[in-house]
This record gives sequence, C-alpha cells and structure tokens, in this order.
Amino acid sequence: MSICYLNGELLPLATARISVLDRGFIFGDGVYEVIPIFDDRPFRLDEHLTRLARSLDAIALPNPHTIPQWRALVSAVVTANPPSEISLYIQVTRGPAPRNHAAPIDPTPTVFAMVSPLTSTPAPLPVATITLADIRWARCDIKAVSLLPNVMFRSAAQAAGAYEALLIRDGWLTEGAASNVFVIADGRIKTPPHSCYILPGVTRDVLVTALKGSADEVLETAISKDELLAADEVWLTSSTRDLVPVASIDGCALGAAAPGPVFRRVTSHYTQYKRAMLVTVAPLNARQRISRPSA
Ligand SMILES: Cc1ncc(COP(=O)(O)O)c(C=O)c1O
Repeated sequence: MSICYLNGELLPLATARISVLDRGFIFGDGVYEVIPIFDDRPFRLDEHLTRLARSLDAIALPNPHTIPQWRALVSAVVTANPPSEISLYIQVTRGPAPRNHAAPIDPTPTVFAMVSPLTSTPAPLPVATITLADIRWARCDIKAVSLLPNVMFRSAAQAAGAYEALLIRDGWLTEGAASNVFVIADGRIKTPPHSCYILPGVTRDVLVTALKGSADEVLETAISKDELLAADEVWLTSSTRDLVPVASIDGCALGAAAPGPVFRRVTSHYTQYKRAMLVTVAPLNARQRISRPSA
C-alpha cells in the first residue's frame, strides 16, 4: 500500500483521515497540483510549486509552506514509496471549520499528498474527442479542487466512447476537460493564449518554450470552433500523459491521419527536450525532516 502525507505525517494511504467539516469536503474550497516523477526526478517541480502558490494566492489561502519546505515534503513522500514512474498529487484545502460560506479568518489548512502510478493513456492512441459547451466559471486559471464541470465533461466524453471533451466558450476553443489543446491550422501550430478561461498547463508551456525559435514555433492565439473542426492535426497536453494525438472530433476524422507528421516531429522534439531537462534534475534526497504546516 502506498504511503501518503497528511498534515505533517507520513502514513499508509488507507489509514489517512480528515474531518467531515473540512472545507475541501464541504465546499470544494481548496487547490491542487499533479507532478510527474521519473525515478525520483520530478519534472518541472518549481513550475508546479509556483502554480500551486499562485492558486493559493488566488483563493486568499496563505501558503502553508515555503518552497524549500514543499521540496522536502515532496522528497519525503516520494522516497517513502518504491522508486518508479509516478505522479504526485498535492492538495491544500482551507481545512476544518464550522460550515459557513465565508472563509474563516485564521484557517488551519489541510495539506495532503499521495502518489499514483504514472500509467500510459488508458485509451488506444490516437484518441476520439467530442466538443462540449464550456460551462465553467471565469477563473479556470486556478487549479481548484472543485472539479464538478470537469467530471461531467469527462463522463460525457466517456459515455460517447471518447477520451476527452474539447471545450467551446462562445464559439472559441478553451481547453480539454483535463488537458490543453494544440491544433495545426493554416500550416501553423496554434494554442489558445493564457487567460482566465484556461489552466496555464505546465506541459503546454514547456512545449511552447521547447518550440520557440524553431520552424514549429507555436502561435498563441484564439481558435474558433470552425477552425478546430477543420484542423489538420490536433493534440492534447498534460503532465501525466505528455502529448496525446487526436483522431476525431464529434465522430469526424481529422484532415491528416493521426498521429500526423507535425505531431510526430513535435513529440520527438518534446521527448528530447524533456530528457535533456530531466538529466539536470537532482534525484530527490532520502527522507527529510518535514514540518507541520503553519496554521
Ligand atoms: C483543465 C486542465 N487544463 C489543462 C491541464 C494540463 O495541465 P498540466 O500540463 O499542467 O498537467 C490539466 C491537467 O490536469 C487540466 O486539468
């Protein structure tokens, strides 16, 4: 059984307990991160910790840890489990409090972290997708644990025999239910720009940076639903799956047979870029002292 972290303790996942009054449970009042780790080497840890700090700031929940404390926590959880390809899930909620929508002035956050196997895509590649109306709120840039719309999107996709839902807001592509989206249109690689309607995906940003200055430089621009449906190639990005090629949208095959030539080229570039970055990452140290989050 895997070992998790809860409020300053390492313990078997099955024995971890939180209060039913935890605001994460009652209101979905919390934020999270998912970090891929390859044989004790976390990929883009600082970027994930920075995004976590940004999400906490956005919901006015004081960050319970400094960056070195977060690093020690990550190290402790990861090294308490067998080394392999894993994803580390970190969740911070506003903690237990009497039920009241207004946030307590002095919260005691709940800090939780667990590992899961970093499995390959559980769908045959390339994947089928559907489009759905993006009915979410206007702060999709916060990685919030309140994911009910995303649960509904992915469930609808699954019920339609698809892997992912591509979200359309007022005629414009935003992102996937749990991924960012890239398209090839007019011979250019395009992805929607950062805004309050998409999560600033770490993988998205790595790919944009990796391709900067090359012939495949990404154009960060608005993409209409019509442009999406007429695209030659489409792929999804996320930390646990890297790049996933799309075969069809709403039952219609894309222009180029997936995975298309640009996807193959870009994936190989991304894989090399990632490998080069990973070798510069020091493996996490053996178990370190971790302090309780400050109240
Ligand atoms: C809504 C949403 N957009 C984009 C992504 C991709 O982000 P990242 O590359 O940081 O995993 C995710 C990942 O879970 C997500 O949930």
